[in-house]
Amino acid sequence: MELGLSGRRAIVCGASAGLGRACAQALSNEGVEVVLAARTEETLKRAAGEIAESSGFSVDYVAADVTTEQGRHALLGKCPDPDILINNAAGPPVGDYRQLTREDWIKALDGNMLSAIELINTILDPMIERKFGRIINITSHMVKSPMAMLSLSNGARAGLTGYVGGVARDVAKHNVTLNNLLPGQFDTGRLAANHQNFATKQGLELEQVRNTFESQIPAKRFGQPEEFGAAAAFLCSAGSGFITGQNLMLDGGQYPGLI
Ligand SMILES: NC(=O)c1ccc[n+]([C@@H]2O[C@H](COP(=O)([O-])OP(=O)(O)OC[C@H]3O[C@@H](n4cnc5c(N)ncnc54)[C@H](OP(=O)(O)O)[C@@H]3O)[C@@H](O)[C@H]2O)c1
Repeated sequence: MELGLSGRRAIVCGASAGLGRACAQALSNEGVEVVLAARTEETLKRAAGEIAESSGFSVDYVAADVTTEQGRHALLGKCPDPDILINNAAGPPVGDYRQLTREDWIKALDGNMLSAIELINTILDPMIERKFGRIINITSHMVKSPMAMLSLSNGARAGLTGYVGGVARDVAKHNVTLNNLLPGQFDTGRLAANHQNFATKQGLELEQVRNTFESQIPAKRFGQPEEFGAAAAFLCSAGSGFITGQNLMLDGGQYPGLI
């Protein structure tokens, strides 16, 4: 399928590993000039090299924490006028909602809501002028099926979702779309770390924990990051201008609701 993305420019945040990296790879495969951001230069540089080698297109990168103003400034310095923005950063910590402090909440809102909004607000008007823009936020299945121990994530990501819902309708007439991708359980480093924590806390074998979680997914497997990247590339494509303001679950059928 021709996605019509050749020569477009993209910023992909959280792109040295996992879902962000898969989005970057999928876009680069389509001939998009991708700029990657992540905090750790070594892994980021390696990811940029591997993506470029596999796609045959050049890939740039900036070591930056996108949840800080300085990091976002550095990123936009490298790519001031992207046609595509993939917002992504590590999720906030889990914890007992009764114990969460105001500082915990401010940090979560900064990390998973306000930093994404800042980037969107900076690049939106140039996208409107060029009559093309594709913005995707990587959020979580927890937006639709929240769990108490992930209250910080639920709150911050739901806030971002509300913002996107309004703005998407405001800019749709300019061929600028905003959508959220909601990962269920994808086989990334983060998922492996979560499983290891769970196994340690419960005194279980890691294999047992993985099997239990996997068996609860109707697809009977975890998602592969490439599947996530493929969905992101499709939503960024030239032909996806009529899809906006959506929250797309990628979860192997785990969310039980009809709509
Ligand atoms: N995987 C899943 O099953 C799943 C399910 C639900 C939600 N999610 C959410 O989806 C997002 C991506 O998850 P993932 O599984 O792909 O995680 P991952 O495998 O841990 O990869 C995270 C990537 O983001 C970078 N990163 C993290 N914080 C950053 C920051 N502040 N600024 C710039 N780069 C940053 C990391 O590199 P550095 O550490 O070097 O910065 C790494 O490249 C997270 O918000 C996660 O909570 C994932």
